[in-house]
Amino acid sequence: MMIETLAWTSSGVRFIDQTKLPTEESYVTCTTHEQVADVIRNMVVRGAPAIGVAAAMGIALGVTNSRAESPGALEREFEEICATMGETRPTAVNLFWAIRRMQKKFRSLSGVPLAQVQQALVDEARQMHAEDIAINRAMGREGAALMPVAGGVLTHCNAGALATCGYGTALGVVRAAIEQGKNLHVYADETRPFLQGSRLTAWELVKDGIPTTVISDNMSGAIMRQGKIKAVIVGADRIAANGDVANKIGTYTVAILAREHGIPFYVAAPLSTVDPDTTDGARIPIEQRNPAEVTHIAGRPMTPAGVQVENPAFDVTPATLVTAIVTERGIARPPYRESLSKLLAGEGQSSVSATLKAK
Ligand code: MRU
Repeated sequence: MMIETLAWTSSGVRFIDQTKLPTEESYVTCTTHEQVADVIRNMVVRGAPAIGVAAAMGIALGVTNSRAESPGALEREFEEICATMGETRPTAVNLFWAIRRMQKKFRSLSGVPLAQVQQALVDEARQMHAEDIAINRAMGREGAALMPVAGGVLTHCNAGALATCGYGTALGVVRAAIEQGKNLHVYADETRPFLQGSRLTAWELVKDGIPTTVISDNMSGAIMRQGKIKAVIVGADRIAANGDVANKIGTYTVAILAREHGIPFYVAAPLSTVDPDTTDGARIPIEQRNPAEVTHIAGRPMTPAGVQVENPAFDVTPATLVTAIVTERGIARPPYRESLSKLLAGEGQSSVSATLKAK
């Protein structure tokens, strides 16, 4: 059964609580857009594509709750709701992509009665949810050929069903390769400090019966040296126009290790993660999170009080270390400035709309 990361329901937007996994499978239902902003900030929902759709649903919820009596009041309220969503997390560009898409929809509805605006925005957010799953399936189809016929594949963080509306980006490629009969074994980096690898990637892969080994982050070099890893595949939070990739902190280290060991390093991400307005990785804003995520594990201190701590949530892997980028419209290869802009312009085949129509 497909994991339901987030869903629009008659009682609100429901999220699986990712802060509680893997020990507890519980759900949080948000009835206001402020609550949705909080669950994004607190990482009840996380992962770039999931954050984008969560923000869209939060906006739809905010507008649905609106009692505005004039188009001007509704517009002001709408922009405030969008601003609240935009202030949650800075790195994943999917968040801003989703807000822009909702703004475009809103503007197309000028002069339409409030009830119809509300319904159209709910429909748009739900459409984005359905599209995300179709996009992940398309990425799986595109990327499966890159996976080895058999052997270990290393991933970092969680770029799976839990980071999306279902199926996953990097893990979607792994799932598709396994569906094609490939014999893969996933090595999941633990991913300190938030443990998305050991808590979330391992949880969803074990649930699917996919052979999985968790390693702590400092083991990946040794495991590569033993010849156990045939490919690395990760997701992304933002890909700059030149192909530099922002992803979970530690991804850069893995990419360097992969290069040293002659192992291909792949990134799987929807085109909504590509940010043509950001020329290179140095310009990607990197979220700094609470030092307590580093100093404490499950509420217990792991460092002496008063020590200084850094907690950047993401790092940037230069395009030179990236073997290929899997998107729903095909695979981009270096030089990325050209290959990504061609894909963004709509070149290459997309099976996404066909998948959606077939539903
Ligand atoms: O801080 P998180 O858990 O939101 O970070 C998530 C990642 O870095 C993922 O690898 C990325 O969003 C891609 S998810 C398909």
